[in-house]
Amino acid sequence: MIIIYSIIILISVNFYLYLKKKRALILDNEHCLITGGSSGIGLAMAIQAAKSGANVTIVARSKERLESAKEQISSVTKSSKQLVLSFSEDLSKQELNLRNIVEKAEAQAGPITMLINNAGTSICHRLEDTSAKDFNNMLNLNFLGSVNMTKAVLPLMKSRNNGRIVFVSSLAGLFGLYGYTAYSGSKFALVGLAEALQMEVKTHNIGVTVSFPPDTDTPGFAEEIKDKPIETKRISESCGFFSAEEVATKTLQLNNKFMSSVGFEGWMICTACSGSTPANSYLDLIIQVMTMGLFRIALFIYLKQCDSTIQKCAVEKLKKN
Ligand SMILES: NC(=O)c1ccc[n+]([C@@H]2O[C@H](COP(=O)([O-])OP(=O)(O)OC[C@H]3O[C@@H](n4cnc5c(N)ncnc54)[C@H](OP(=O)(O)O)[C@@H]3O)[C@@H](O)[C@H]2O)c1
Repeated sequence: MIIIYSIIILISVNFYLYLKKKRALILDNEHCLITGGSSGIGLAMAIQAAKSGANVTIVARSKERLESAKEQISSVTKSSKQLVLSFSEDLSKQELNLRNIVEKAEAQAGPITMLINNAGTSICHRLEDTSAKDFNNMLNLNFLGSVNMTKAVLPLMKSRNNGRIVFVSSLAGLFGLYGYTAYSGSKFALVGLAEALQMEVKTHNIGVTVSFPPDTDTPGFAEEIKDKPIETKRISESCGFFSAEEVATKTLQLNNKFMSSVGFEGWMICTACSGSTPANSYLDLIIQVMTMGLFRIALFIYLKQCDSTIQKCAVEKLKKN
């Protein structure tokens, strides 16, 4: 038994290292529309896409930040012919018709070949401390914002039988953690959406990917951490912390993947939670089948550690009072 599991771990680590190898990203003649492309992970993806040859359209609210991001993105394009466009829109508004933006972007920079639904926000509080407004904000932006933008782009991709749609979820979209009742709810929803959507669009040669970033150094993360519960801070400390550039590079290396992870823990959680998701490849499927049981045990131990951290925090709070 020990020998079998040692072989499984060896194969898994080798497979993970193989996946980690940097491959050159070529996006010549592509047009990437990235929501939330004016900051953090979205901006890093926009910069990476421009460096790799793509026309880039970014959508966010603040015109000032969009202008500054546009300058940064334009300064790294591979060729002077590439276009960088920006549109200001609040994607959390309900029943938003984004077709206008999509048509304007396509008229200038050509067919959108990749839509990256990245705009999102996170407010981290216990359920009873999370207001109804915060629940609505997170669902409206993180989930419905992605639905609305996808609805605007999808018919055009379908008419061309070509495209890829990316949803930026989070590891908290696979793994509910203390303080993330609202955020995890909105990010888990993206996984269900993406699983169903990929079945609908496969025959139109449109791929769907869900990206599961870990904690990432961004302005959004810096804001979120300010009033995170102590339990969440301590639990998160044990997972890795990545730069926006690392996450962007990994997310853009799509390779027809349904699940896109960053770092070993991310890959392990994605593998353990891959249950009913489409397999990226037969090799992936074999690895999932072989490692799932082992990773389930690892996650069980991790959950026990989370419980113990939460218990310790409760004792500390009692002592203080
Ligand atoms: N950072 C992390 O640790 C982490 C981990 C896992 C997953 N993620 C996910 O990754 C994505 C990007 O996160 P980030 O940390 O890079 O965030 P960020 O630095 O706060 O950037 C968020 C981007 O979204 C835009 N945005 C926010 N609200 C919007 C709205 N209502 N309408 C349109 N655009 C809006 C922002 O611009 P404006 O404010 O000007 O609109 C900005 O461009 C999010 O979906 C987040 O949930 C992040």
